[in-house]
Amino acid sequence: MSNPWYKNAVFYEVYVKGFHDHNNDGKGDFKGLTSKLDYIANLGIDCIWLLPMYPSPGKDDGYDIMNYYEIHKDYGTLDDFKHFLDESHKRGIRVIADLVLNHISDQHPWFIEAVNNVYSKYHNYFVWSHNPEKYKEARIIFVDTEISNWTWSDKAKKYYWHRFFYHQPDLNYENPDVQEEMIKVLDYWLGLGLDGFRVDAVPYLFEQEGTSCENLPQTHEYLKKIRKFVDNKYPDCLLLAEANQWPEDLLPYFGDGDEFHMAFNFPLMPRMFMALRQEHHGPIIDIIQRIPAIPENCQWAIFLRNHDELTLEMVTDEERDYMYKQYAKDEQMKINVGIRRRLAPLLENSRNQIELLNTILLCLPGAPVIYYGDELGMGDNIYLGDRNGVRTPMHWNVDRNAGFSKCNPSKLYAPVITDPEYDYHTINVENQENNIHSLLNWTKHMLKQRRKFSVFGSGTLRFIYPENKRILAFFRENDNERLLCVFNLSHLHQPVELYISEYKGFKPVEIIGEESFPYIGELPYLLTLSPHSFFIFELVQ
Ligand code: GLC
Repeated sequence: MSNPWYKNAVFYEVYVKGFHDHNNDGKGDFKGLTSKLDYIANLGIDCIWLLPMYPSPGKDDGYDIMNYYEIHKDYGTLDDFKHFLDESHKRGIRVIADLVLNHISDQHPWFIEAVNNVYSKYHNYFVWSHNPEKYKEARIIFVDTEISNWTWSDKAKKYYWHRFFYHQPDLNYENPDVQEEMIKVLDYWLGLGLDGFRVDAVPYLFEQEGTSCENLPQTHEYLKKIRKFVDNKYPDCLLLAEANQWPEDLLPYFGDGDEFHMAFNFPLMPRMFMALRQEHHGPIIDIIQRIPAIPENCQWAIFLRNHDELTLEMVTDEERDYMYKQYAKDEQMKINVGIRRRLAPLLENSRNQIELLNTILLCLPGAPVIYYGDELGMGDNIYLGDRNGVRTPMHWNVDRNAGFSKCNPSKLYAPVITDPEYDYHTINVENQENNIHSLLNWTKHMLKQRRKFSVFGSGTLRFIYPENKRILAFFRENDNERLLCVFNLSHLHQPVELYISEYKGFKPVEIIGEESFPYIGELPYLLTLSPHSFFIFELVQ
C-alpha cells in the first residue's frame, strides 16, 4: 500500500449494544446500527471500530468471548452483520472489529473442556501452574477487583493464568495450535469482508519467568506472523494494536513496518488533559519528542476518550496524583488506575475546552478516534459500576429512551443520561442537528475542513517554542501543504509572538472560516487569542 487508507482516516468507536435498538428489547443491534449509518457518514467518518460483537456472558462487556465465529444473539444474526458491512461499504465507510487474542471467557467450550479433562488437547490451550508464585513479576491490571493473576480451578486442581478478570483465562501461545486457531479467526472475519481489527491487549500473549510478562520477543514474533498472513491474503486490511505501554515499549509493535499498521498513542492521551489544566505546552511537547518516529506506512491512533477508564498507567506517580486531583474530584470517578468519565464532564462541560482539545487532537500526527456520543458532548453516570457509566445508550432525540429504543425504560441495558446538565432532552442528535452552533455541527465542519488537507495524516510536525508557554504552536508540513496551528491552553486572553520569518511573504489563511490574515514578515508574527481558543492557518504563498 503506497498511500494506505488508514493514514488519513477518522475513526468512530461504537457499541452495537449502545447505538440503536431495532427490535426494542432494550439492547442495540446491527439492524439499529445499520439504520444510523447515514448519521455516521454525515459526521465525516472513514472507519467504524466495533466493540466486541461475539457471543459472550458479558462479564467484561463482550471482551470475554464464548464463540469467535458468531454474532451475539442480542445484536442479531450473521446476516444482519453482513448487511451492516455492505451498507457501510456502500457509504465509503470501512469497518474494523475488536479481536481479543490474549484471553477468552471461562464459558468458552475450550476452557470448559480444559478444566473437565486435563488430558484433553484443550487443557494445553491455557496456562497452568501448581504454584501461584510463578511469574510473580507480572503486575495486576484490574487492581480494583483482582488480587492475583492466578485463579484456582477446583476441577483441574491447579491454578490458571489470567492477566485480566479471573473469568478470562489467558490462552497459551506457546501452543502452536492456539496460534493457528486465532489466525483462523482472523481469516474468517476478513473473509466476510471486515476491513481489519483493533487487537485487544496485545502485550500479554506470552509469559516468561523473571520478566514482567509484557512485550516479550515471542509475542512480537507471533504478531508478525499474523501480519504476514494478513498481508498475503488481505493486503488492504488494518491491524490496530491496543498496547498500553510507554513509548519505548510501544514502538516495537510497529516492527519495521511488518507488525501493526497502527497503534493507539496511550502516552499522548493523558498529557493533552494535563497540558490543558497546567495551561502549559510542556506535557504535549515533551511526550511527542520522546516518541521516536514510526515506519513510513504506519500511523498512530490518537484519542481523547474511549470505552475504558481514562487510563493513568503511562504517567509518573506525581502526574497521576495531579490528574486525579484535577479530573476526579469525587472518589466515585476513579476506577483501577484511571478515571471513568466521558469527555464533556471531564472538561466541566466547557464548550471552549471541548473544542480546544478536539482540535489539538485533529491537528497532531495520527488518525483521530472519536468515541460515540462525545461528538454531542454526552454526559456519563459514574454510579453504574465498572466502566458502564461511559457506555450508556446514544441520545437520538427527546422521545422515550432518547429515541434509542421503544422498550419499557426499565428494560434498557443501561439507563439514558438524566443528569440535569446532560439530560437527553437537551443533549441529543436531533436538537444538535437543528442548531447550527451545536457541538455536533461544529465537529462535522471541523472534520470536513480537516479532510481538505492530506498533511494531517502524513505531514511532519515541527514545534515552535514561543516565550508564552501557555501557547502550543506547531507547523504541519509536507511537499504541498504548510499549516500553522496555534492553541491557547489558558483560561485567559493571551498574546503570542511567533518567530516564523522563514515563511516571510506567506499569507496565513485560517482554515475554519477561510479568512486571510496579514502577511508574515521579518518581525515576529503577533497573535492574540481569546481563552481556550485556537487558529489553524494554511500558509499560502
Ligand atoms: C482491553 C479492553 C477492556 C477490557 C480488557 C480486558 O483493555 O479495552 O475494555 O476490559 O481489554 O479484556
